[in-house]
Amino acid sequence: MALLEVENISVTFGGVPALRNVSLAVAEHEAVAVLGANGAGKTTLLRAVMGRVPLASGRIILDGTAIEALRTRLRVASGLSLCPEGRQVFPSMSVQDNLLLGAYLAPGAEAARRLDAIYEKLPVLRARRRELAGSFSGGEQQLVAVGRALMARPRVLLMDEPSSGLSPVAITTIRTILRDVADSGTAILLVEQNVQLAVTLTERCYVLNRGVVDAAGSTAELTQDPVLADTYLGGRATG
Ligand SMILES: Nc1ncnc2c1ncn2[C@@H]1O[C@H](COP(=O)(O)OP(=O)(O)O)[C@@H](O)[C@H]1O
Ligand SMILES: [Mg+2]
Repeated sequence: MALLEVENISVTFGGVPALRNVSLAVAEHEAVAVLGANGAGKTTLLRAVMGRVPLASGRIILDGTAIEALRTRLRVASGLSLCPEGRQVFPSMSVQDNLLLGAYLAPGAEAARRLDAIYEKLPVLRARRRELAGSFSGGEQQLVAVGRALMARPRVLLMDEPSSGLSPVAITTIRTILRDVADSGTAILLVEQNVQLAVTLTERCYVLNRGVVDAAGSTAELTQDPVLADTYLGGRATG
């Protein structure tokens, strides 16, 4: 049984379908990608899993329990955490206060322990913990956003386009961190347009096209499929 199962979910905005009967599964300790062009419905999918947008139909199952009726905070308490598109750090708050927001459900002593664990993983954040997050570069803000999401101690980390707008060097840093997160046993559902990042982090992927899962299978193979790559992904992974 998968850790996270999305079963036939549909989402509409003002009567216009954004997701139609989307199903996917993430196993424990697995990293899975969702690939697709702009507007395919990737962000809507992650927001629906978190309970940020309502489902028209379908089910979301975490570790065998249906969670689609739960409010977002209960989904977080159950083990889901979202690192949102565009990072969405709070620019006028310190790095440390941004991180602490990710542990808003934990008592103070536990939040402090988690903060220490994040600083062990991301020492650059400890060194700069009192600086305002708004003074950071895009790549540095992505570190803060990932750290904040990890402060919830998720069983499944939902990542929405972490590479978007970042330099190649910053993408390499994020890749290393996400690899480390995956190796430490946290499952990852990674939404990306960056095929390279998906190929290096995941073995399995789903291709989302206009709200529908068009293909699913090996990330390495699907991203080499000329039709899929050229139609939805803006070119092939290599070459
Ligand atoms: N809050 C919203 N209200 C209305 N339409 C939305 C909303 N969020 C997303 N959409 C629409 O749903 C579709 C999928 O958007 P999105 O999930 O952001 O795609 P992606 O993340 O793959 O670029 C788009 O047509 C978008 O305009
Ligand atoms: Mg998006």
